[in-house]
Amino acid sequence: MIPQARPRAFVRRLAVGFAARCALAVVAGCDGERPVLEHALAPETTALDEATGEPRLALAIQAKLRAELERLCGTPHAPRYALRTEWQASGFDPNRPFESVGELSASERDALRAENRDTFEDELEELDDANFDGARPSERYFEFVASFDALATAPDRVERARTLLVDRYPTLAESAESYRVKCSHCHGVSGGGDGRTGQFLEPKPRDFRHGVFKYTGQRERAVPRRADLLETLERGLQGTAMPSFRELPLGERHGLADYVRLLALRGMIERRLAAFADEEGELTSADADEVYAEVWEQWRRADEHALVLAAVPPEATPERVRRGRELFHDVARANCVQCHGESGRGDGPAVWTLDLDGERVLALHDDWGRPTEPRDLTRGRFRGGDRPIDLYRRIWAGIPGTPMPGIGGARGADGAPVFISDDVWCLVHYVRALAYGSADDV
Ligand code: HEC
Ligand code: HEC
Repeated sequence: MIPQARPRAFVRRLAVGFAARCALAVVAGCDGERPVLEHALAPETTALDEATGEPRLALAIQAKLRAELERLCGTPHAPRYALRTEWQASGFDPNRPFESVGELSASERDALRAENRDTFEDELEELDDANFDGARPSERYFEFVASFDALATAPDRVERARTLLVDRYPTLAESAESYRVKCSHCHGVSGGGDGRTGQFLEPKPRDFRHGVFKYTGQRERAVPRRADLLETLERGLQGTAMPSFRELPLGERHGLADYVRLLALRGMIERRLAAFADEEGELTSADADEVYAEVWEQWRRADEHALVLAAVPPEATPERVRRGRELFHDVARANCVQCHGESGRGDGPAVWTLDLDGERVLALHDDWGRPTEPRDLTRGRFRGGDRPIDLYRRIWAGIPGTPMPGIGGARGADGAPVFISDDVWCLVHYVRALAYGSADDV
């Protein structure tokens, strides 16, 4: 087939082929062995008691915890969720997101099918001519080729092969491998933000195990939706080491979002079980099942917390920018100045404090215990994106895991919201004016 006829599909194939070859090169390694990876317990779980020097959580409990986590979420080589009986009736199966009820939306499925039709255009043409053997996908698709070959003796193999190609979606194991190659050097094998490169970075790569994500479209600091994780992978986080993965095939990005969720879920379960076992002095499989169900419930209900916005943001008129400036500086209202400062440079009075020796130290800390500074809003580098809608989300809902509060939920003494939606848009437009140089004109 002449590749020029379909440049996009061809370039993508090259990219996929290249990624697969790189993965193979790493897998082959010097001694021909694939590195054996294990999920580790978090340092908080294995910490020693300061007074006694003994592990805070008895070693037997740690071993039990490790075994339970493996039973519920599998290993880095064989990630697999334990299926709950309740899920069977509803058709929910997070091991197979594409087929599962309640995972991908209809439009997400359509977009993936469109991409697959493009990627497997040649193979699908062969199937149109009823040529099953000619439609065999290339070896680089590993497990996928095996599923294809398994159809060889089926009477309706041409139709089933068509479905297999069009509904192609990475398995959790394939996504774990993609994560290992592309993400783990920063985010760590178990998602602790402790990969080899991670230690040299500022800000540090996210520790997924808390289940806290900064840049989402969620209220109430809820766990992210699939769409939030996909957006982060597409956009990257400007001003940090987190790159954009826009060039990866859409299916692979979905798979990576699935795997980030697995690491976050696993970490959340670990933290809750470790706290529970610390208190109770024991840990049973029934406890683990209960926490597993609770944490999953949070993720399955993520959509209920999505921030709903007007489709079209109100215009950035000089009046709105002026009103945004008033709110920003009004210490009785939005009071952004206490952290971001009069000029918006991130130097407000709440940022610094004196320690016991009279040294000036940062007063603000994030949920991971690290000192943190408010953003310099005049630099125009917004990690969560600089579209009005991105800034609306930040200002309305705050930035989870950081001291940056959201103003959307603020209620007055009478229980009524303190800010209406237009107030938030005014702040958005003022912040953009600060960043892009027109704040002094109003
Ligand atoms: C070069 C290092 C690096 C690599 C490689 C990297 N990340 Fe990140 N990632 C970061 C940093 C740094 C942050 C945190 C930035 C911050 O706190 O603002 C981050 C944050 C994130 C977040 C959290 C976003 C949020 O809303 O809190 C997700 C999800 C994420 N990365 C996923 C991935 C995935 C998936 C991959 C691989 C495909 C990956 N990252 C590769 C450095 C990296
Ligand atoms: C208690 C301190 C505090 C207050 C009050 C505060 N912020 Fe922040 N803000 C922060 C911190 C800290 C960050 C950086 C968070 C991080 O990424 O770690 C931040 C980040 C931001 C960002 C950057 C978002 C991005 O995508 O990079 C914007 C925009 C912002 N704040 C706007 C505001 C506005 C508008 C107000 C007033 C309504 C406000 N902030 C009030 C502490 C504060």
